[in-house]
Amino acid sequence: MRVMVTGGAGFLGSHVCEALLARGHRVCSLDDFFRGKRVNLDGCRGMPDFFVARGDCTELKVLESAEQQLGGVDVILHLAAINGTRWFQERPDLVIRVNIDGTRAATDFAISRGARLVFTSSPEAFGEQPQMPLQEDSDSVFPSARQHQRHSYGASKYLGEVLVQHGIRDQGLDARIVRPFNAYGPRLPGDDYGQVVSIFLTQCLKERPITLHGDGSQSRSFTYVGDVVEALVAASELDEGLDESRLSGASFNISSAEEVTIRELAELVLEVSGSSSEIVSVKGHPGDSVRRTADVSAAESALGWKPTVDLRSGLERTWGWLQEGV
Ligand SMILES: NC(=O)c1ccc[n+]([C@@H]2O[C@H](COP(=O)([O-])OP(=O)(O)OC[C@H]3O[C@@H](n4cnc5c(N)ncnc54)[C@H](O)[C@@H]3O)[C@@H](O)[C@H]2O)c1
Repeated sequence: MRVMVTGGAGFLGSHVCEALLARGHRVCSLDDFFRGKRVNLDGCRGMPDFFVARGDCTELKVLESAEQQLGGVDVILHLAAINGTRWFQERPDLVIRVNIDGTRAATDFAISRGARLVFTSSPEAFGEQPQMPLQEDSDSVFPSARQHQRHSYGASKYLGEVLVQHGIRDQGLDARIVRPFNAYGPRLPGDDYGQVVSIFLTQCLKERPITLHGDGSQSRSFTYVGDVVEALVAASELDEGLDESRLSGASFNISSAEEVTIRELAELVLEVSGSSSEIVSVKGHPGDSVRRTADVSAAESALGWKPTVDLRSGLERTWGWLQEGV
């Protein structure tokens, strides 16, 4: 297959590019390097079936350049987005522009080319839905925008899903929606705009205090990057579900079954790294969900998907990567 991976130089995107190439596909990474890194593509560069298009995924000419390099496009894996919690609060305007316009551009392009679309949504698309585990079709619940702007991201993913479902229903699009739950692993950014697992590990590496947001009683199910990639690849390759279900229009929650509090995560990170950092509490971001777990039965039956990497092993691999200083 000829696959365009938007956001291909990012954390998930670069792993997806590697996995697709290993499976014999022709791959073009499209990224503007807002948060993606050249080094993330070192494992792909130089391979005969790998191409790079640099630019903004909201622009038609950039999508066309990726298509041209591939010699046509069969699948668009749309991962380009502004991700990282701090951006949601500080630059809601940018998050909304890129995430919504990017999904609209990817959706329109897939429709015009008759290509399959895999849209990477997020559990944040459910907003502050308190009922757990989240089902594929749980309702989205968003508080007043006057309180905070965190849901610029979650709401952009929700509207992205609306655009995709509209394309499926009214414009003949074949599209699947994948929602990774707290993916982590090598290449996850650990700077101020990064995500919690890498932030904690980086704090350990620098022997700085591990900063819990609030008391750290919020819980999450962290999913190793390799497992998330398996789901994205299956959603790209399969014509129909392994249970013979229709994949177009289906959405899949992709989550490990291991629910831990953020304090427990910090303690495990200390064990894995052997660091003597202390754990401290700081003010968190408003709108942080208290608990987030998922029902993954749809992914199990339709995609044959199961999480395979437990949290300790995944943290060990991520710690190993960080220590290499990449
Ligand atoms: N990491 C997670 O836990 C997680 C969970 C749920 C959903 N997702 C979604 O998966 C996708 C990938 O996430 P990630 O964690 O790899 O984040 P990431 O920030 O590493 O990857 C996103 C990539 O998109 C690129 N990008 C941003 N704006 C762009 C633009 N206008 N044009 C082209 N490229 C642009 C960035 O440079 C980056 O390389 C995102 O859509 C994200 O919302 C991630």
